[in-house]
Amino acid sequence: MAGESLTVDHLSVVFQARGGNHAAVRDASFEVGSRRMVGLVGESGSGKTATGLALLGLHDPSTTTIGGSARFGETELLGLPPQAANRLRGSIVGMIFQDPMTALNPLLTIGTQVSETIRIHEGLDRRNARERAIEILARVGLPDPAGRYRRYPHELSGGLRQRAMIAAAIACRPRLLVADEPTTALDLTIQAQILTLLRTLCVDEGMSVLLITHDLGVVGAVCDDVVSMYAGEVVEIGPTKEVLDRPRHPYTARLMASRPRIDGWDERLDVIPGRVPSASSSPTGCLFRPRCRQAREVCEETQELVTLSAGRRVRCIRAVEPDQVSFGAAAVAP
Ligand SMILES: Nc1ncnc2c1ncn2[C@@H]1O[C@H](COP(=O)(O)OP(=O)(O)OP(=O)(O)O)[C@@H](O)[C@H]1O
Ligand SMILES: [Mg+2]
Repeated sequence: MAGESLTVDHLSVVFQARGGNHAAVRDASFEVGSRRMVGLVGESGSGKTATGLALLGLHDPSTTTIGGSARFGETELLGLPPQAANRLRGSIVGMIFQDPMTALNPLLTIGTQVSETIRIHEGLDRRNARERAIEILARVGLPDPAGRYRRYPHELSGGLRQRAMIAAAIACRPRLLVADEPTTALDLTIQAQILTLLRTLCVDEGMSVLLITHDLGVVGAVCDDVVSMYAGEVVEIGPTKEVLDRPRHPYTARLMASRPRIDGWDERLDVIPGRVPSASSSPTGCLFRPRCRQAREVCEETQELVTLSAGRRVRCIRAVEPDQVSFGAAAVAP
């Protein structure tokens, strides 16, 4: 299968709240190529989940305004009427949710939730759908899948629920999967198993994956490309190795410096000093400026996402200057 790409163009997500509008995603553009796994990274509140939910048409239209476009192959994912969005969610796009309890129906057994999806999408009869469902439950590392098939979500531990939810999300074989922190609640062995499974679905079965995570270790292990988000803006895009080896935006560099490390048991998490601008404000210029040591007068002007080379884009004036350097942790104000 040739496979399709996702092209997100000038996506914006604005929540209307009583206190004013909250811009969670601002003019975001990026791609998820065919058979590629792309890591969407950023601090808490940077707009990762808001981006993912927009791609699945899951924001409440009465309180949220979505702008821009997101095409998967020939299909526009944004602005669809509810029924069309629903159809798309069952066939083209799937999502692993950050919170498994929001995705599983507490009144249905795990088995029913996975096998019903299979029945609808593959037209299998009940017995064959059950067999396939048990196979998928085993594939996501659920011990005793036939026994767990009959269990309700509340009868499973958090980690097992997470795996059941992953099974439900991949059961309909989406061509584009948005996986929002899919392995955060899982121990390292299961985490590796799930990531390997996602990678296999991507490379062997042609599923494109947008992997939302704040874990750069996970990104380095499985993602082809990285999209770094700050305060709702995409600030850096590139192939994983290039971005992790040589981040060109000071925010991405600092995200890397704030990774918890396992090579020293008493190592402290190095948080990024300063605050993310509020989603309700309309700041101008580089949004990272107040936290950046390299900030200069020119950073008060609007910064565009500039293409440095094929697939490599950065929203920072320093990255396009002739004496450009890669940034280290020192780029961020104390
Ligand atoms: N339904 C909502 N109504 C109003 N504001 C919201 C809503 N959902 C999210 N936000 C705000 O939008 C911004 C982005 O939130 P989002 O959930 O996308 O962040 P995130 O990058 O996924 O963070 P995390 O890593 O904690 O999951 C935050 O400021 C958040 O408070
Ligand atoms: Mg989130």
